[in-house]
Amino acid sequence: MLTISLQIGELHFEDISKESLGEVLKLYNQNEQNMYATGIDHALSIDEINEKYLEVLVNSHEFFAGLFCKSSGVNVLVGVVKGRIDYENSEEAWISSILIDSSQQKKGIGKKVIIAMMELLNKSYDVKRVYVGLIAGNKIGRMFWQSLGFCYMRTIEQYIRLNDHTEDFIIMNKAL
Ligand SMILES: CC(C)(COP(=O)(O)OP(=O)(O)OC[C@H]1O[C@@H](n2cnc3c(N)ncnc32)[C@H](O)[C@@H]1OP(=O)(O)O)[C@@H](O)C(=O)NCCC(=O)NCCS
Repeated sequence: MLTISLQIGELHFEDISKESLGEVLKLYNQNEQNMYATGIDHALSIDEINEKYLEVLVNSHEFFAGLFCKSSGVNVLVGVVKGRIDYENSEEAWISSILIDSSQQKKGIGKKVIIAMMELLNKSYDVKRVYVGLIAGNKIGRMFWQSLGFCYMRTIEQYIRLNDHTEDFIIMNKAL
């Protein structure tokens, strides 16, 4: 796993650990909107999250970072960001998903942490361009990435099956 260790004001990123997988699962299964972060239209099972975790764990290019806030000395999970530095071109990175706890959304947290994450990728890993992929029906997701200066690049048609219909997949990117 590619380690992401970052303090952003009162929030901090640290790698997801096996012990925090239960909390991550709760977050992913919090509501239906979160299928946009997983690409899966049903509640994730502990086996599915374990499988995702193991894939990242054995891969030195991939990150799976939890966003935590310390409350009374205890780390509370506020969000997760998952992605990788490209295998062939290390100047490029992908953020495959971001998810912020629904009770903490629309407070500027997502924007703040992606800006910090892009700065880290650029300064520490010399990443020059970041790509994101999102399901076409995810209007909020699209507005979110646009607000961060990401531009539309291309559409992969009929890419994913969600709730009994097929959705296109949109790729956006931003130069750092
Ligand atoms: C997308 C998501 C990560 C945004 O996180 P957030 O912390 O609520 O976002 P922010 O408060 O930083 O908002 C940044 C910008 O995104 C856009 N945005 C965020 N939520 C929005 C909403 N509900 N409606 C419209 N625009 C929205 C706005 O442009 C906003 O800028 P503004 O506040 O200046 O208007 C969050 O909604 C989420 O976890 N969604 C479920 C999973 C998902 O869709 N992930 C993205 C695809 S991988």
